[in-house]
Amino acid sequence: MTTATAAAAAPKTMKRVAAARFFAPLLKLRNGDFSAAVERVRQLPEIFYCRLGPRRVVYINDAALMEALLVKNHKHYHKDSGYDALRRVLGNGLLTSEDAFHLRQRRMIQPAFHKKRVDNYAACMVDYAERMARGWQDGSRLDIHHEMMNVTLSIIGKTMFNAEVGAEAARVSEALETVLRYSERYVINAVGNFFDMLPIESTRSVHHALATLDTEMYRIIDEHRASGKDTGDLLSMLLQAQYEDDGTGMSNEQLRDECITLFLAGHETTAIALSWTWYLLSQHPEIEARLHEELDAVLQGRSATAEDVERLAFTRRVFTESMRLYPPAFGFGRQAIRDNSLEGYAIRKGDNMVASPYMMQRLPQYFEQPDTFDPDRWLPERSAQLPKFAYFPFGGGVRKCVGEAFAWMEGILLVATVAQHWKMRLAPDARIAFDPKVTLRPRYGMPMFVEKR
Ligand code: HEM
Repeated sequence: MTTATAAAAAPKTMKRVAAARFFAPLLKLRNGDFSAAVERVRQLPEIFYCRLGPRRVVYINDAALMEALLVKNHKHYHKDSGYDALRRVLGNGLLTSEDAFHLRQRRMIQPAFHKKRVDNYAACMVDYAERMARGWQDGSRLDIHHEMMNVTLSIIGKTMFNAEVGAEAARVSEALETVLRYSERYVINAVGNFFDMLPIESTRSVHHALATLDTEMYRIIDEHRASGKDTGDLLSMLLQAQYEDDGTGMSNEQLRDECITLFLAGHETTAIALSWTWYLLSQHPEIEARLHEELDAVLQGRSATAEDVERLAFTRRVFTESMRLYPPAFGFGRQAIRDNSLEGYAIRKGDNMVASPYMMQRLPQYFEQPDTFDPDRWLPERSAQLPKFAYFPFGGGVRKCVGEAFAWMEGILLVATVAQHWKMRLAPDARIAFDPKVTLRPRYGMPMFVEKR
């Protein structure tokens, strides 16, 4: 054993923090206020645990330990029970499957998300953003979050299935929305299963929504299979893909699970990132002005393209910084499936591990003035020294977001396309708070006045 390995494995003591001390500020999260929790976490050690009944909840407050959890030691963990609810909706898709099954699916699906492929979707992203903005009237009041949800939904519908937004897509989206509410109920409520047995209205609508979702998905899959054509969408690619080990393709059931997963994971997160970006820009006119300057200089009034994404350096920094302050997936969990040593800290089988991009990305040891919106902190000379997992809005390791390249492309192109011609002004009566269930949704939407530039 080398000295370095021996040092890494040397046992360390993990501090126990009284559950009341850690969880009391967390209760405020439910009201959409994270500030107390951030303050508390900043005072706590790099790793600590609380007891919740027989369980230990281990919180990771350090970038190197986060890397160990998500990358180095990933084999010792599964997703936590928070994902059980999603599993009931998404089946055994990428987000919810585990181990060898997950890896096999990941190898099959990942090529569809390589940058070159994703570049092909740029025109569609810009087209839908332009269509959305064409429907706006100067000075009108809109719920910008609603607009972002609609446009990202249209984009994922088109890029995944080549489906235009119409009655069908609306049905799918409505069913998804109901199903999402359902999965949240399970995430939040440990006795969720109990609801399933009750003939209550919400349970009936969930069953109806799941049935609608399945019908629509299988119909879309059947049509694609029957046509045998590569229509350039993600589903066509998935239909053609073959497993490396035996050369077969995915079954309809597996395709259903993967499609619903990608559809669901692929639009709300980006919509949330965009909504908070518009909010931040509306609160920082000097940054907004610099953004406009870049867009005018680079685009000179024409529509943005995939090639522009590299040129729009400040736009990228704005979007990066927005996801630092408001990471759409603000926290996620793992459960240890066996005892293991996390850089010398003893983790026991069954421990619940908490990973929070929101909290980590506001730690002052990594980010000067961590609560300030400062896109220039992402200038290469200022961000070069940052530890890898001080910023991880897309997670990391084998479970890292498969749609990351898609999300960057979509986020940057949508900010560019909209801000090129429009400014957003937050409505004076807007209530800003989180609705922190699975993602960092703005609880009361994002009411804004849109002004033509
Ligand atoms: C700003 C936008 C997005 C954010 C912040 C985001 C965030 C994340 C995070 C944090 C994870 C890891 C969760 C964990 O480890 O427990 C994840 C996984 C995933 N994301 Fe995203 N995501 C975004 C956009 C997308 C898009 C556009 C797609 C697809 C089109 C997508 C599909 C997925 C899938 C399938 C997984 C599971 C990957 C696996 O476990 O192999 N995401 N995402």
